[in-house]
Amino acid sequence: MQESTPPEKTTLKGKTALITGSTSGIGLASAHILAEQGINLVLHGLMSDEEGASLAQEFSKQYRINAIFDNANLMDSDAISHFMENAIKAMGSIDILINNAGIQHTESVDTFPESKWNAIIAINLTAAFHTIQLALGGMKQNSWGRIINIASVHGLVASKNKVAYCAAKHGIIGLTKVVALECAEHGITANAICPGWVDTPLINDQITDIAREEKRSFEQAKYQLITAKQPLPEMMAPRQIGEFILFLCSDSARSITGSSLPMDGAWTAQ
Ligand SMILES: NC(=O)c1ccc[n+]([C@@H]2O[C@H](COP(=O)([O-])OP(=O)(O)OC[C@H]3O[C@@H](n4cnc5c(N)ncnc54)[C@H](O)[C@@H]3O)[C@@H](O)[C@H]2O)c1
Repeated sequence: MQESTPPEKTTLKGKTALITGSTSGIGLASAHILAEQGINLVLHGLMSDEEGASLAQEFSKQYRINAIFDNANLMDSDAISHFMENAIKAMGSIDILINNAGIQHTESVDTFPESKWNAIIAINLTAAFHTIQLALGGMKQNSWGRIINIASVHGLVASKNKVAYCAAKHGIIGLTKVVALECAEHGITANAICPGWVDTPLINDQITDIAREEKRSFEQAKYQLITAKQPLPEMMAPRQIGEFILFLCSDSARSITGSSLPMDGAWTAQ
C-alpha cells in the first residue's frame, strides 16, 4: 500500500522569530540555534540600545540574516505594544514567537513581597498574553505559526518559596493550551517547554543562598541544588532548549500542539 503524500515542506530559512529575553541564557542560545538555520531575528532584553544594536549587528554579520533589537520592559503593556508593532513593521510578520523572558524571586509565602509577585506575574505570564495577542493576526494571515512558551517544571509541580514563579508558570501552561485549541485550524501550534535546571544567570542567587547558608563552595552548592529534586545530576546547557525549539518549529512537529513538554532529567517522573 502506498503512503499518503506528505504536506509540502515548510522552509524555516527566511522566517522571522521573536524571542523575548534573548540577551542572556536560554533566549540567547536559542537565537544562535535559529540563526544558524537562516531564521531572521527580533532580539529583545534588558540591555542598552547601543549594546542591543551591536548584538543584532553581530548576529546579522555572523549568520547573514536580518536581526533587530528592542529593550521593551515587559512589565509595561504599552511598551510591549510598541515593541510588537515596530517588530512587525520592520520584519513583515512574526512567524515564530518565543516567550522566554523571565525572572525569579524565592521567599516564603508569608513574607513574599507584593512588588515581586506583581513583577513575576507581569514578566513571566502577562507579557506572553500580550505578545501572543499581537502576533496572531500575521500568523493567521500566513496560515502558519509557532508559539513556544518557556515554562518550567514549576509549571507542572511546585517547590517551596516559589509562590509567584509557580503561579506564573502554571498559568502559562493554561494560556498555551487555550491558544493551541483556538489556533489549531490555522496552521499555528502553541506549546510550552518545561525545563529542569538550566545553566544560566537566573539561578545564581539560589546557588549563592545555599553556599552562604551551608558554608559550601559555589560548585558544591550548585550540585546540591540540582540533585535535591532532579535525578539527572547535571544542569542542561541553554543550547539544548534551543535545539528543542528548533524541532518544534519543524514540519515534523506540526501535530504537537497544546503540549507541556518536560525537559527535566526525570524531575517530574517521580
Ligand atoms: N535557568 C533555569 O534553570 C530555568 C529552568 C526552567 C525555566 N527557565 C525559564 O527560562 C526562561 C529564560 O531564563 P534564563 O534562565 O535564560 O534567564 P536569564 O536570566 O539568563 O535571562 C532572562 C532574560 O529575560 C530578560 N528580562 C528579565 N526581565 C525583563 C523585563 N522586565 N523586561 C524585558 N526583559 C526582561 C533579561 O534581559 C534576559 O534577557 C525564563 O522564563 C525562566 O523562567 C529557566
